Amino acid sequence: MLEEWRGIVNAHIYGFKTTPRIESSLVILFSVKTVHLKLRAEDAAPGHPAIREVAAILKRGGLVAIPTETVYGLAANALDAAAIGHIFEAKERPSWDPLIVHVANVDMISQAAADFPEKAKKLAEHFWPGPLTLLLKRHPQLPLTVTAGRESVAVRMPAHPVARAVITAAGLPLAAPSANRFGHTSPTTAEHVIADLEGRIDAVLDSGPTQIGVESTVLDPLGTPPLLLRPGGITREQLEDVLGPVEVYSTPAKQAPRALASPGLAGRHYAPQARLLLVEGTPQTFRAAIEQQVATVGENGEYVGAMVPENWLNEQALSCGGLVIFDWGSWSDPAELAHNLFAGLRYLDKPGVRVILCPLPSASGIGLALRDRLLRAAR
Ligand code: TXA
Ligand code: MG
Repeated sequence: MLEEWRGIVNAHIYGFKTTPRIESSLVILFSVKTVHLKLRAEDAAPGHPAIREVAAILKRGGLVAIPTETVYGLAANALDAAAIGHIFEAKERPSWDPLIVHVANVDMISQAAADFPEKAKKLAEHFWPGPLTLLLKRHPQLPLTVTAGRESVAVRMPAHPVARAVITAAGLPLAAPSANRFGHTSPTTAEHVIADLEGRIDAVLDSGPTQIGVESTVLDPLGTPPLLLRPGGITREQLEDVLGPVEVYSTPAKQAPRALASPGLAGRHYAPQARLLLVEGTPQTFRAAIEQQVATVGENGEYVGAMVPENWLNEQALSCGGLVIFDWGSWSDPAELAHNLFAGLRYLDKPGVRVILCPLPSASGIGLALRDRLLRAAR
């Protein structure tokens, strides 16, 4: 029995579909020992022992969660179809949802994409390394599972020194979706990754909280006008300064996810277990909504969670029983709100918290990405 168990550990069995039965009543779902490594961003270098260890795991087809400037990503060799399969299994991600390929330099693009047109180059010059993902034509040798069968591939060059050092040390383009289970809130700390993926992946490289806090902007640059598929770290305004008008894609109401321009936009996403209620309006409206929810939910001995901008609640509201508060940051600093958004949703999503109330920021700048994530989480 022990030997058989060890065999399973060594075989790195990730998915329930392929999992053997040890006893008729016991099915092992995931049984990988996840190694926890720590590295400060300022110490990142391809030769650092932690980076070398991670690169070796990736080269032999393993999965490693790494920090990027947006959120933590679950990285694997983009050219290894088996490793890509393991990403989908560990995340329980549907096979129709394609992955972003991460590169450390422009030369690496040729391993993932068939070409790199002028318009994309211009964007790369402005925004790479950084939180912009570009749709390019898929390279015929890139496993089709990376792009979920599509002829386009999403490529980005991250700015985080640790992500860059890992890609450089591995010498491989890395496919990396956000390192959370499918549908969950994206991880902005290694602890978030561990909560979702411990025992399913080979290693987590912890470099502290990510800076931006929401994912990269996904852009199809070649349409006229270019199509913004997912708002993110690079704002619509920044893109329009370089490109002229950009169209923001809106998800059609009754469309199967696999048929969407960007499948990951479908359905309930970034979602806490608790019900998320969004409040558009002033601090007064928000306070009134909190009071109403506390009165209703409190009757059952349950709690109301609230994402509270600085100075939005007075002493009276703050001391009201039945309320769990997350200090979201300054309402006039959307970058701070973005940085704290997913950590706040995860913090408030505790047993006993029935609803989470959150004010909805305006759609300008990074606010467009905040609204997008909140509206999806509240579906
Ligand atoms: O900031 C980020 O982009 C993070 C970090 C780790 O780089 N990654 C990330 O990946 O958010 P993921 O897989 O969670 O989200 C990728 C999004 C999904 O909505 C997916 O459907 C879309 O990009 N996407 C990927 N490839 C695509 C393609 N070929 N065509 C259209 N959409 C694509
Ligand atoms: Mg994701």
